[in-house]
Amino acid sequence: MPKYYLTTPIYYVNARPHIGHTYTTIVADTIARYRRMRGDDVVFLTGTDEHGQKVERAAKSAGVTPLQYADRISAEYRRLWDQLDLRYDRFIRTTEWRHERAVHNLLLKARDAGHIYKGFYEGLYCVSDEFYVDEPTPEGNCPICGRALEKIREENYYFKLSAFTDRLLKHYEDHPEFIQPEARRNEVLSFVRSGLRDLSVSRTSIKWGIPWPDDEKHVIYVWYDALTSYMSGVGYGDDEIQYEKVWPADLHLIGKEIIRFHAVYWPAFLMAADEPLPRQVVAHGWWTFEGEKMSKSRGNIRLAQPAASVLGVDALRYFLLREMVFGQDGSFSLDSLVGRYNSDLANGLGNLASRVLTMLEQNFGGLIPEPPAAAPNPFADEWREAARAYQQSFDAFAFSQGLQEIWKLVASADKYLADTKPWSLAADPARRDELASVLYNSAELLRIVAVLAYPVLPHSADKIWAQLGLRGSISSHRLENLSWGGLRPSDPIQKGDAVFPRVQKEEAIERMEQMEEQIRAEGAPKPAEPAKPGPAATPAPAAGLPAAAGDGKISIDDFMKVELRVGEIKSAERIAGADKILRLMVDIGTEVRQIVAGIAQFYEPEKLVGRRVIVVVNLAPRKLRGVESNGMVVAATVGPEGRPVLAGFHEDAPVGSRLK
Ligand code: MSP
Repeated sequence: MPKYYLTTPIYYVNARPHIGHTYTTIVADTIARYRRMRGDDVVFLTGTDEHGQKVERAAKSAGVTPLQYADRISAEYRRLWDQLDLRYDRFIRTTEWRHERAVHNLLLKARDAGHIYKGFYEGLYCVSDEFYVDEPTPEGNCPICGRALEKIREENYYFKLSAFTDRLLKHYEDHPEFIQPEARRNEVLSFVRSGLRDLSVSRTSIKWGIPWPDDEKHVIYVWYDALTSYMSGVGYGDDEIQYEKVWPADLHLIGKEIIRFHAVYWPAFLMAADEPLPRQVVAHGWWTFEGEKMSKSRGNIRLAQPAASVLGVDALRYFLLREMVFGQDGSFSLDSLVGRYNSDLANGLGNLASRVLTMLEQNFGGLIPEPPAAAPNPFADEWREAARAYQQSFDAFAFSQGLQEIWKLVASADKYLADTKPWSLAADPARRDELASVLYNSAELLRIVAVLAYPVLPHSADKIWAQLGLRGSISSHRLENLSWGGLRPSDPIQKGDAVFPRVQKEEAIERMEQMEEQIRAEGAPKPAEPAKPGPAATPAPAAGLPAAAGDGKISIDDFMKVELRVGEIKSAERIAGADKILRLMVDIGTEVRQIVAGIAQFYEPEKLVGRRVIVVVNLAPRKLRGVESNGMVVAATVGPEGRPVLAGFHEDAPVGSRLK
C-alpha cells in the first residue's frame, strides 16, 4: 500500500480557531479520506505552534503563563477538530519534549555540517509574523501582514541560506510539482532568483522558545522550531522506525501567506541536515469576509461552529470546497452558504435520494428491484467519465471542479426520472419491468454519487449508503473497485430521514448569527456536545454555549440583567432583499434606536408607527442581513407557524419606563 503523509500548518495558539483555519483542516481531511479511498496508507498530521513572542504577549495579557495559555488554545483546536469529525492521525504540539529533541537534532546536524554561524542582526522585525523584514512595504510596514515593525539589534546564530540558492533552484526545476499552484511557484522562483540572504535562526529578545542547544541566552527561531514539527510529529529523533516509514511528507498543505517559509527555508533547512525533502507544498487562497482577509487582527473572523450546528458539518465542508476555486481567494457569507445548501444539497442530492428511496418503498416494498436482464444501462459511459474527471480534479486539488463532475450525475439522474416518469410507469402493471429498471438505475447512480462524494460529505454519504441498504462503511470502499451493479436485487433499503432537509434561509442565517454572537460573548469555550452531522431541528448547542442552570430557575438578579423598557415605534420600513424583517426606529426615552425585527410577514410597516412596545435595550448590537440591530422588541410566538404578536400595554405606559 503506498503511503501518503500530509500535514496542515500547525496553528498559532495566540488566538482561537476560525473558519480560515477550519478550511485548511477540512481540505486536509478531505484529501486524507480521498487518498484512503484510492488505497493509500494515509498519515494526517496537524497540531499547534506554541512558542514565540505572540504567544508570550497573549498569555501575559490574559494573566497566565505561556504554557497555560497554549494548553488552553491547543485543547480548543483539538476539541473543534473532534466536533467537526476531522480525523487527523497525529497531533503535535511544539511544547512537547519529543518535538524539542527533534529540533535540536535537526539543528545540530546542520551546524555540524557547517551551515550555521554566529553574527549580529540589526534591523526590522515583525512580531506578529515572527519575521525579520528585509523589504518593508513603502509605508515601512510588514510585507506579510501590513502591521508596524519593530527595530531590533541582537547577536544571533545565522543559517547560510544564501549558499542554497542554486540547489533550491535546481530542485524547483527538477520537480515542477514541488510548489503548487503555478502562481505560487512563480512567486517563489522570482524570490529565490533575486538572491537569498542568510537567515537569523536564533533570538535573544524572546524567552518563550526552545533553548539553543549549548547557548541558553538564545532561543531557536520559531519558524525553524515550527517547521520541524512535520518531522517530530512522525517520530523524528524519537521513533526512527516510524520516521523512516513516513517521512518525507507527500504534501504540506498551507495558506498562501506562508509559502516562503515552506518552499524556501524549509527545503534549505532539510538540505543542510541532509534529510529528504517533502514532495509537494500546496498553497490555497484566503477566505475573505466583506472584501478583506479574514483574520483576528482585522476583527472580521467567522467561526465554524454555527454553520456546523445549524446546517451540519457536511454542509460546511461542501460549501468551503465547492465555493472556493482552490488556490484563489473566496468570499465567505452566510447568505451564499445557505443558498448553496438549499440548491445543491437539499434540492439536489438530498431530494434525489428521498425521491428514489420513496419510490422504492412505494413500488417494491422497500426492496431493491431486479432489473430485466436485457435492460440497457443508460449511465454506462457517463458515470465512468464522471468518476474519471472527478479523480483527475481531486488529484489536482481542484475540489470545486470535482464536485461539479459529481453533481452532473445528480442532474442526469433528475433528468432521467423526469423523462422516464416512474410514477406513470407505476400506474401500469404491464410496465413493471421498465419501472424496475428505472428505479434500479437511479438507485445505483445514487450509490455511485455517494461513493464519489464521500471524501467531502462523509456523514451524509454514509447515511445514503445505509439508506440504500448497503452494509459496512462507505469509507472502506475503494475507488478502483467502483463498478456498476453494486446494489443487489431483493436487498432491503432503510429509508430514513431526509439527508439534507430544506431550511428557511433567513431563519437559518439568524440562528447562525445568534450562535456566533453567543460563542464570542462566552470567550474561551468549555467542552461541548459534538456538532450534529446533519441539520438540527432546533439549534444544537455550539461550543461555548452556556448550559441551562440547575433546575432551570433564575434569580431576580439574573432577571434584572435584562433591561426592558417601554418604546414607541417612530418609523418602520421593509428591507430590500429580506422579506421577513423590518427596520424599526424606536424611541426608548433616552434615544431613538434602530432595531431589526422578524415580523415583516405579519405586520404592515405603516400600521406600526406610534405603537408602544417592549424593548430589550441592553442586548449586544448584532447585524441581521447586514443591518445593525440595537435591541429587540418583545413578541409572543403563536401557533404552529410561529406568528409573532407584539407585546404591549392596556394602559398608558410612558416611553422609557423600565419593566420589572
Ligand atoms: N504557525 C504558523 C504555521 C506554521 S507551519 C510550520 C501559522 N499559523 S496560523 O495560525 O496563523 O495559521 C495559518 C494558516 O491558517 C494559514 O496558512 C491557512 O492555512 C489558515 N488560515 C488562516 N486564515 C485564513 C483565511 N482567512 N483563509 C484561509 N485560510 C486561512 O501561520
